[in-house]
Amino acid sequence: MSIPAEISQRAAELREQLDLHNYRYYVLDDPLIPDSDYDRLMRELQSLEQQHPELIVPDSPTQRVGAEPLGSFGEVRHRVPMLSLDNAFSDAEMVDFDRRVRERLGAHDPIRYAAEPKLDGLAISLRYESGLLVQAATRGDGSRGEDVTQNVRTIPSVPLRLLGDDWPAVLEVRGEIYMPLAGFERLNQRAWSNGEKGFANPRNAAAGSLRQLDPRITAQRPLAMYCYGFGEIADSPLAETQSESIRRLTRWGLRISPEMRTVEGIDGCLGYYREIGEKRDRLDYEIDGVVFKVDSLAQQRQLGFVSRAPRWAIARKFPAQEEMTRLLAIDIQVGRTGALTPVARLQPVTVAGVTVTNATLHNEDEIRRKDIWIGDSVIVRRAGDVIPQVVRSLPERRPADAHPFTMPQQCPVCGADAIRDADEAAVRCSGGLFCPAQRRQAIRHFASRRAMDIEGLGDKLVDQLVTLGMVETPADLFGLQLAALEGMERMGRKSAENLLNALEKSKQTSLGRFLFALGIREVGETTAQSLANYFGELEPVMQADVEALQRVPDVGPVVAEHVFTFFRQAHNQEVIRALIDAGLRWEPIAVPDAASQTLAGKVFVITGTLSRPREEIKQQLIALGAKVSGSVSKKTDYLIAGAEAGSKLTKAETLGVAVLDEAGLNRLLEV
Ligand code: IVH
Repeated sequence: MSIPAEISQRAAELREQLDLHNYRYYVLDDPLIPDSDYDRLMRELQSLEQQHPELIVPDSPTQRVGAEPLGSFGEVRHRVPMLSLDNAFSDAEMVDFDRRVRERLGAHDPIRYAAEPKLDGLAISLRYESGLLVQAATRGDGSRGEDVTQNVRTIPSVPLRLLGDDWPAVLEVRGEIYMPLAGFERLNQRAWSNGEKGFANPRNAAAGSLRQLDPRITAQRPLAMYCYGFGEIADSPLAETQSESIRRLTRWGLRISPEMRTVEGIDGCLGYYREIGEKRDRLDYEIDGVVFKVDSLAQQRQLGFVSRAPRWAIARKFPAQEEMTRLLAIDIQVGRTGALTPVARLQPVTVAGVTVTNATLHNEDEIRRKDIWIGDSVIVRRAGDVIPQVVRSLPERRPADAHPFTMPQQCPVCGADAIRDADEAAVRCSGGLFCPAQRRQAIRHFASRRAMDIEGLGDKLVDQLVTLGMVETPADLFGLQLAALEGMERMGRKSAENLLNALEKSKQTSLGRFLFALGIREVGETTAQSLANYFGELEPVMQADVEALQRVPDVGPVVAEHVFTFFRQAHNQEVIRALIDAGLRWEPIAVPDAASQTLAGKVFVITGTLSRPREEIKQQLIALGAKVSGSVSKKTDYLIAGAEAGSKLTKAETLGVAVLDEAGLNRLLEV
């Protein structure tokens, strides 16, 4: 049965378009059409192929995935061996290399080199015959590798068919398969959330993914490839230089490093090494050095190779970013916001030229996930300016006296309870404002304009006072003496007097401001004011249990918990007493009696245009004991709908929530 000509023509057209868009997207990183259009073309081709299976060709874009798992990989003999590279670990070794090259060539002028990053992935050889990908093989021992064709076919940046038609009949391209960092992070996050261990680094992840016997798994892994060299090429070379030959590959849809360029002589090499070194941390893939290749292919032939490595190329390696050392202890650091961070104390080790003695461990979950015990041998990584990290432990080297770590129950600085939020990995000190570790930040907040509004007590002065030990808690501010202040740097008699006056003036405050100034977690100005309005005085706020706190408008279970815990801390109670003894005062707020709370517990949502400002209506409702929320849900009792009410009205109607217009609202407010 033959397929109608227009159908096979359409299939060919779709294949060509999809190949082009794939190239624009994965190779040039410059798509021409949105993903949805690409998906539509793909679906059209898939459905044509389903109706007419004879249309399916191995290089069809639909054929990247879905091959059956293999029992084992076949063996591939490399017709042109896959060489390795000599390394240079210093500028001096680079100078030696360049001198040897010039001597062998008898060259007087500087040599031109093709330079590019050395990717940290795994080497692969692709074989194209008549423009079709027929084989992909790993390096193996350089002469024999493994046949990983089915897996490599799933990598989007590897063309199954070369673009154009001016390629050699046989073209073997060599390059590096790697995993971009973003994809690596995502893969590990997914593994961790499934309780799996994840990969130690992107290189292992790339290698593990490529050596999967089931290509369907490889297809789900974010792999990519850069081409940097050649194996067999039928007939004549592509060009006269390394750089031109590599650039030629892009025409056929193969991907090359955007960092590749030529440099002149040893100075050019050293400059390029430095430049890429500075860029290293901003690249989306790991590199472990840069590679220099004599650019002229004629000169390459003249130089030849020794044993396994060419004389015309060298890898200038970056200093290693990972070293092994011993984890001696885990200390707890309390941050400015009260987060307790475990910090690894390490046997000092030099990583990339810097001595590392501490490294962050982030949080308890991370320590458990990485299976890190105190006493373990660990791999420490330091990249650029980034804080050193403990990458992983080596449990196989674990000594008998090693022991697991547990997070302390109390803040090591102030002794307040350390609390772990239900939905957060971090553990925090509940001492809040009064924990010395959080002091600086807390006193800054206490003095700030919207809190106690102590004029002239800016961040710099607070830092100075704390550093000099003159202020430990906010209460100490009110005990400052003129003589001591005058003695401080950049502080004259006049400014010292002004500060004391401002402190005196700030003592007359409001309960809302005072509660806000305490810096209780998640208690902003509005919530502080609600607490003040509801309880009227400080003492009942301090005594309230979580249930009572939740009756306050704006206060949910999380905030209630923070407020409750804050006032349970003995240290916090002491500082509050000291503040009151120092003379802080406010007018008590008249608390409405129960009889006037006609709307107690009712939840309102306000929407649409009304004749008065929404805030005014909101305050009126709150005064009658109601809660006002921003969105309609099953818990909403009334929706106040003004003119042109939109989606909230629709939602209220579907949920069966009572809807009031302005007249209805007014009747409710009158009773
Ligand atoms: S050229 C004869 N260029 O490094 C030339 N290799 O240490 C051989 N590699 O097996 C390789 N990036 O896996 C070359 N831009 C690059 C490279 C690179 C990474 C790897 C490759 C090779 C190993 C040699």
